[in-house]
Amino acid sequence: MVNPAVVQAAAARLDAPPRPLSPMAQLGRKLFFDPGLSASGRMACAFCHNPDHAYAPGNALPAQFGGPGMNLQGSRATPSLTYLERTPRFIIRPPVRFDPDEGGTPKAARPAVPEGGMDWDGRAASLPDQASGPLFDPREMANRDGTVVLARLKATPYANEFTAVFGAGALDSQEAALSSVYQALARFQIEDRSFHTYDSKFDYYLAGRAQLSARELRGLKLFNDPQKGNCAACHPDRPTKNRLAPVFTDYEFEALAAPRNRALAADGDPAYFDEGLCGPARKDLIERPEYCGLFKTPTLRNVAKRQVFFHNGVFRSLQDVVRFYVERETRPEKWYSLHGDGTVMMYDDLPPGHRAGIDGSDAPFNRRRGEAPALDEQEIQDLVAFLETLTDGYSRNQTITAAAGNPGK
Ligand code: HEC
Ligand code: HEC
Repeated sequence: MVNPAVVQAAAARLDAPPRPLSPMAQLGRKLFFDPGLSASGRMACAFCHNPDHAYAPGNALPAQFGGPGMNLQGSRATPSLTYLERTPRFIIRPPVRFDPDEGGTPKAARPAVPEGGMDWDGRAASLPDQASGPLFDPREMANRDGTVVLARLKATPYANEFTAVFGAGALDSQEAALSSVYQALARFQIEDRSFHTYDSKFDYYLAGRAQLSARELRGLKLFNDPQKGNCAACHPDRPTKNRLAPVFTDYEFEALAAPRNRALAADGDPAYFDEGLCGPARKDLIERPEYCGLFKTPTLRNVAKRQVFFHNGVFRSLQDVVRFYVERETRPEKWYSLHGDGTVMMYDDLPPGHRAGIDGSDAPFNRRRGEAPALDEQEIQDLVAFLETLTDGYSRNQTITAAAGNPGK
């Protein structure tokens, strides 16, 4: 990390003064924190996307409870809303091996590469498209239809701001009102610095203002090593060629075959499978079994602030996530349920016939049963120590000395 241009770009990000929000983003902030827009009257976006927890929930539930009576559980873990601002629109690209812009390393070639979009399955193409989901999801804010939302908007103390920002007719029709709401919510997430502060210990390290500890540096090396963690193949950790900060996702979709989560109400139904790109939440790729089980690669920034991991919240610690990566093939009996005769129900959260997309060629998945896992327990702890350097607000949590050379411990 000695490229002076990279150091300079990282330092410039840390030193950039905050910019005031546009009137549209200010309106978006009011909407984001307003529980009055939900059927229960208690559920704002911030209820699940809590700013004190990197805009994710501050609890360890695999999925949150919402709906009119706040007693209906969703079926997926709530992602952090930080570092979404550079997410491309959902697209299925013709075969490419990697995107050098995002600093990726080559992966096994696949027929076509879906990338980008919002939600674990990319079914909302962009940030403004996403906002209709929670407003109308019966297990979330649970508005029956646009009429109800329009009435709620007109009753807010900030209703007049819609016309000030979007023009005279802004609350005259459902279409106009909803489109204003979606744009304002997206603007808030894009403009407000709290969604993308780029001020983790790793950012200070990139700017030459903090040192990583010996353990964190070992973790970083394992993260990059194609024979060990190989994490950077999907979670790139290098600045882009335009010197944008790394966001630790290539925005692509992968089938990692997370174990079924028996703690999730939806998984109590043996006929229910959340198969990501091929449905059931997403509808347009249901006839494409090669896309079954694929979920969007999330950013790893702020991942240490999460209490549940993966789309179904099946893991409760970062250590377990990493253990799963290295033991899925080598010790599957530890992760998947067992048949009556004691044999392993491999990939138990995808139905047979829908498992062709599972990634078995990229390290660390390319070892066979009984072989040593790609990382030992010490290396797993080192890798997790590195992941913990990706949490925002390093300077808020540390006293940066005037000498600033060596604040890292
Ligand atoms: C009941 C909890 C809950 C509420 C309330 C909620 N969300 Fe979410 N949010 C989720 C879950 C769960 C997902 C993942 C959904 C999926 O993959 O199908 C999500 C996904 C998102 C995403 C996509 C993140 C990504 O990584 O792709 C955005 C953006 C988002 N929510 C914004 C909002 C906004 C804006 C509101 C308010 C209008 C809101 N959410 C209300 C739970 C919630
Ligand atoms: C082949 C691409 C790929 C590789 C290699 C990879 N990941 Fe992931 N990672 C993903 C995808 C896709 C998900 C989401 C999977 C899901 O929800 O089903 C994910 C999820 C995660 C999560 C959970 C994040 C959250 O918000 O729930 C963590 C932590 C993580 N990866 C860390 C790592 C580490 C550490 C390594 C290296 C040992 C690694 N990943 C290697 C693609 C990859």
